[in-house]
Amino acid sequence: MKDIAVIGVGYVGLVTATCFADLGNHVIAMDVAEDKIDKLLQGIMPIYEPGLAEVVKRNVDAGRLHFTTSYTDTIKNARFVFICVGTPSGVDGEADLQYVRQAAETIARIMDHPLIIINKSTVPVGTGDWVADIIRKHQPRPIDFSVVSCPEFLREGSALQDFMNPDRTVLGSLDHEAADEVAQLHLPLRAPIVVTDLRTAEMIKYASNAFLATKISFINEIANICEALGADVKEVAAGMGLDKRIGKMFLDSGIGYGGSCFPKDVLALHHMAIEQEQQPQLLEAVMSINLSRRHQVIAKLRDLLGDDLRGKTIGLLGLAFKPNTDDMRDAPAITIAGLLVEAGATVKGYDPVAMDVARQVMPPATLCTLCKTPYEVCEGCDAVVIVTEWNEFKQLDMLRIKASMRQPIIVDGRNIYDPVMMREMGFVYRGFGRGYSGDIHLDGV
Ligand code: UGA
Repeated sequence: MKDIAVIGVGYVGLVTATCFADLGNHVIAMDVAEDKIDKLLQGIMPIYEPGLAEVVKRNVDAGRLHFTTSYTDTIKNARFVFICVGTPSGVDGEADLQYVRQAAETIARIMDHPLIIINKSTVPVGTGDWVADIIRKHQPRPIDFSVVSCPEFLREGSALQDFMNPDRTVLGSLDHEAADEVAQLHLPLRAPIVVTDLRTAEMIKYASNAFLATKISFINEIANICEALGADVKEVAAGMGLDKRIGKMFLDSGIGYGGSCFPKDVLALHHMAIEQEQQPQLLEAVMSINLSRRHQVIAKLRDLLGDDLRGKTIGLLGLAFKPNTDDMRDAPAITIAGLLVEAGATVKGYDPVAMDVARQVMPPATLCTLCKTPYEVCEGCDAVVIVTEWNEFKQLDMLRIKASMRQPIIVDGRNIYDPVMMREMGFVYRGFGRGYSGDIHLDGV
């Protein structure tokens, strides 16, 4: 049992605190946002994450997990302090480190015993050294401490599972004893532990996210070519993915990536490269391909409904940036709804869990109606777009939907339906990259 402090109870902080408590440690999690802590004290989760509420409750009841707004209470008995505060994008795409700075300064001012301070937030390469400098400068008297980078690799929607079953733990520090202590903390997770220096650990996180984003943009570029040549990208991805060197994950083509991580991290890595006078051409292509996916939804709708979308009603099924979360940060649904409204269309939308968040970020109710069921969305629509591949959209009563639409047009942004079955049911169906040799005649073939 170790004493652990966690600063910041966003996705990463709350999951980290909860899972370390579940492993038998004593954890105090703090946040300066009183409303978040108030909710947690009442057992209300500030985010939607499958299974989280139950595990939080179990550990609070067992006295292993506590929530507070007090820095002093949090680090009073701690040996390990995890910094898990947000690092949003700044004006030029660089990560905004104001919350990391505030956390480091406060820890420095109040610490009264040696600490191992662990950066879990995704921070630009060099931030660990910067945090160490801040702490040294703000300590009223010198007290021993070490900074270790331990980037997180959690996916929203499966964060608990990812925490408990990591592919690897990455630790960055030149202080081998500190790295070893943090490694001990992770031993129950039974994953390979990579120990390296601070900057390399920080880079591993950016390079991993950028690589996954690259895989997505790559398959999306292939999807465009498939569509033009009459090949089916889903089968292409399946065929490619069986090669162990390629792997089958992150080859789902569609409207591209969103969320609080890939868009921000690829942009931040790009920014770091430019600052060092590098030319990150691949990262630029990854970002531009990803943005163009959202515009392609509108292009497909224009292709099917005519250039003028004024007066047309378009339904969006799924609003969160991916299934199993209510997170709408950089969600494709927001961009797509904005483009549709700009083109004069009326938008309807539904999401199984993100409705409260959607009310705040989608166009106003006069232009975008949020509905209670997927069937209500589809009623009277000229076309329906699948934006998020929630399971509940996979087995809808499609004939009921078809009967209720003004025109039976489906643009499947996540390729969840079988094009042949959809056509057989009488839909005009467009996936992404789902070329179909029957549609295409190539010269000489
Ligand atoms: C991502 C990484 O997967 C985590 O390892 C990392 O810890 C996290 O960012 C982070 O930096 O905190 P997350 O953003 O929660 O996790 O979600 P992903 O499952 O990676 O999906 C990201 C986006 O890519 C989603 O919009 C998803 O729809 C899209 N995606 C994913 C595709 O378009 N195609 C795919 O094949 C896979």
